[in-house]
Amino acid sequence: MKVLIFPTASEAIASVADRVLDEVKRKASAVLGLATGGTMEAVYDRLVLRAQVDDVSFANVKSFNLDEYWGLPPDHPASYHTYMRERLFERIDIKLANTRLPRGDRTDAAAECRAYEAAIANAGGIDLQLLGIGRNGHIGFNEPTSSLASRTRVKTLTEATRQANAAFFDRPEHVPPCALTMGIGTILDARACVLLAIGSAKSAAVAKAIEGPVAATCPASALQLHGDMTMVLDREAAVGL
Ligand code: GLP
Repeated sequence: MKVLIFPTASEAIASVADRVLDEVKRKASAVLGLATGGTMEAVYDRLVLRAQVDDVSFANVKSFNLDEYWGLPPDHPASYHTYMRERLFERIDIKLANTRLPRGDRTDAAAECRAYEAAIANAGGIDLQLLGIGRNGHIGFNEPTSSLASRTRVKTLTEATRQANAAFFDRPEHVPPCALTMGIGTILDARACVLLAIGSAKSAAVAKAIEGPVAATCPASALQLHGDMTMVLDREAAVGL
């Protein structure tokens, strides 16, 4: 695992955005694994800007997001579909038909999860997977005790995770109790992974992920097993190391 520690958040953010852009410059038909959450907002802002400045086209890029709330239709204001459209897809030339997130509004969750895994495989697998990290060490919505071999499935969210994401909803009780998420096994299949953590609130989870044992109690620790894994941190997120 490579660990990059930057003096400031903006340098860490720029490093991750530039890594994504470099992947698309290297391979115009790259398959990107994308993430949501507050941390990624600035990454997408920087990516949009750099794509314009460097004139990089996403027309042949495909993308798969990590997760979506179970029960939310794509046009719900707090859905990850809406987040991705507003923060990235509508600001670059990616074709919406080439972007995919798990659908939270299907009646058969298991069938949706199987179809999602099949779609990733059909696309040839993910070239570069972007990740954030939850304060409890979750990646995607793989909460602690998730199997390290897990595939895309429904997960029940912890109360702490629901609270951490409450700001994106009108009322805290509107945060859905469950989500569809790529599994840890699905994430580990990506050819390369980049995790971005900013701020002291993430420092305990970051220390466990990098220096702790590989354990289901800290899902991000499974990334130690990946052969091409980069952790990008600002100084505050790195204080526990
Ligand atoms: C949610 C997402 C994760 C993300 C995490 C951290 O739980 N499902 O993919 O990593 O939030 O989000 P933030 O960047 O807002 O701290």
